[in-house]
Amino acid sequence: MGWIIDADKLSRAFGDHVAVDALTLAIAQGEIFGLLGPNGAGKTTTIRMLATLLPPTSGTARVCGFDVTRSAGKVRRRIGYVMQQVSPMGSYMLTGREKAEIEAALYHVPRRRVKTRVNEVLELVGLAEHADRLVQEYSGGMQKRLDLACGLLHQPDLLILDEPTLGLDVQSRHHVWEHVRWLCDEGMSVLLATNYLDEADRLCDRLTIIDHGREVAGGTPEGLKAELGVGTLDEVFLRHTGHALREEPP
Ligand SMILES: Nc1ncnc2c1ncn2[C@@H]1O[C@H](COP(=O)(O)OP(=O)(O)OP(=O)(O)O)[C@@H](O)[C@H]1O
Ligand SMILES: [Mg+2]
Repeated sequence: MGWIIDADKLSRAFGDHVAVDALTLAIAQGEIFGLLGPNGAGKTTTIRMLATLLPPTSGTARVCGFDVTRSAGKVRRRIGYVMQQVSPMGSYMLTGREKAEIEAALYHVPRRRVKTRVNEVLELVGLAEHADRLVQEYSGGMQKRLDLACGLLHQPDLLILDEPTLGLDVQSRHHVWEHVRWLCDEGMSVLLATNYLDEADRLCDRLTIIDHGREVAGGTPEGLKAELGVGTLDEVFLRHTGHALREEPP
């Protein structure tokens, strides 16, 4: 059993601004791994490099056993990527089922499998009975669950979730967590970016805290708290960075 993600000194600059600074990550198969940090810390930039959508300025990363630069196609076939921003407006005029069918084509699900697979993933996230309603009638939580379902269409080995519960109410967040936990129990590996400390604490087997593109601490939620003798990840974050997570970086 190897690493599902193995990144070595992965870096990305935009002009003079270093968004991700020599990040080294090793994520085991079957883990839920959290990338935790404040707004602008470099979470989405890291994820986009791992998902082959943005070339690194330096450093290397292997995802599902393949180099993200040299074997981007092989990486893409093995990952599901659920983006941070809400679905584009265009899809609001579609039903949930129609949207999933279009995404299935994008993910190269074989044509004869599409109908069955769409039904399976909609069932999995609890949207089967709403499949034929317009996406624009969905609540925010239902739209997030639809995005999650679409990321599962081609049965990826690794699911990458960027802020999966941003803007959701407590109940919907718990639903998403349950689904993610279930997927992991079924053998999927999950990389999750979040700036919700409770989400990281509840869901992640291990996590890395990043600030200004750099790793400031890493380990299990319990280990990180025990190391400093504190009770919450908020405190862990504060101790390691000198500022609270919600505070804008100086
Ligand atoms: N395409 C781009 N061009 C220029 N700068 C960028 C680009 N994408 C990201 N950045 C910058 O890189 C830094 C990291 O951004 P990133 O989106 O990775 O942060 P994040 O941790 O995902 O934040 P959030 O919690 O707000 O989603 C920010 O300073 C951002 O302005
Ligand atoms: Mg982001």
